[in-house]
Amino acid sequence: MTELPYRSLSARKAVPSYWHRPGEQICLHLGESPFPPTDAVQRAICDAAGAANYYPDTNAVALRDDLAGYVGHNVCPEQIIVGNGSDDLIQLTVQTFLPKGGTVVSFEPTFFYYGFCTAREGERYAPMFRRRADKYDLPPMEEIHSHIQREKPDLVFLANPNNPTGGLVDRDRVLQLLQRTPGTLVVDECYFEFAGQSVVDLIQEHSNLIVLRSLSKSFSLAGVRIGYAVACRERIDALERMALTFPVNAIAQTAARAALRETEIMRERIGKIITWRENLARELNQLGLDVFPSHTNFLLVCSGLLNKIPDDCALCLSKRGILVSNQTHTPGIEGTALRITVGTPDQLERLLQEIREFVTGY
Ligand SMILES: Cc1ncc(COP(=O)(O)O)c(C=O)c1O
Repeated sequence: MTELPYRSLSARKAVPSYWHRPGEQICLHLGESPFPPTDAVQRAICDAAGAANYYPDTNAVALRDDLAGYVGHNVCPEQIIVGNGSDDLIQLTVQTFLPKGGTVVSFEPTFFYYGFCTAREGERYAPMFRRRADKYDLPPMEEIHSHIQREKPDLVFLANPNNPTGGLVDRDRVLQLLQRTPGTLVVDECYFEFAGQSVVDLIQEHSNLIVLRSLSKSFSLAGVRIGYAVACRERIDALERMALTFPVNAIAQTAARAALRETEIMRERIGKIITWRENLARELNQLGLDVFPSHTNFLLVCSGLLNKIPDDCALCLSKRGILVSNQTHTPGIEGTALRITVGTPDQLERLLQEIREFVTGY
């Protein structure tokens, strides 16, 4: 098994957000939305602040009702649990469904938190590796099947679309993976609204499927912290038993409910982000950089052109007030790579100007 660096990290150190000053810097390193919460959501947050002397609803009944309506596919509120961001639910899933001596499988490069939570529990993380030559798509299903038979994982995590590579696995292959997974398959659909594809309907027939979602990206609520998981009632009950008494604060519950009333604005904004993403991809391609197809709000960009002595491109950009995520040392990434969040056209124009200068030589 390849050794991954998760054991030595704290989650706070792994997320380099503490040199993050939105307003002073152009922050394109954490996959945040360039749009602030809508006016109605901001008003709802202010109104909820006035009732902050009361405890929140521990069961988040109203929010789960609203989420059930949003998710559709006959999902009922009892098939949903909410958490303090989907990070919280990843951790809760590992604590609930990974027994002592258990194993977690995932597909690196992927979201670091799956390996991190497994290592924190002291359990075995046995990822498969995607290949750059395959545009970081999943390995072939026969290889996955052998790996799963060998490792007998209790939990399999699939980020779909994937972070940091941006690619999407189609429903047929997710279903094949589900059928080959003896334990629980967690499909993390944090970027669902950008991809427009989901397997959430399959929870009605497959009791070993958990679908994770987030309001951080598409609903512009990363700072508020709201995520949710959808699964059969038995799995949701098991997660509930391990959850905090008040996992989601009252202001966050109110903000999420207000955001869910404005899905049209959300969809309009996503349409813009996708247009800006494709424009950015074209421009970066023209600079000779390798840009991977994305179904998210970020692009993975690889090229030796991004690596110059003494500074790499991410460091150079940060010195010029633009933060992007350096992915070169992410497990499974081959070569020099940046993950760039899609910002506003003005921000991306500044970014392109700097990258152009870096590539052609300052
Ligand atoms: C695939 C994936 N899952 C989960 C998360 C965590 O999101 P949240 O803000 O809901 O905790 C992220 C954040 O970047 C992500 O990329």
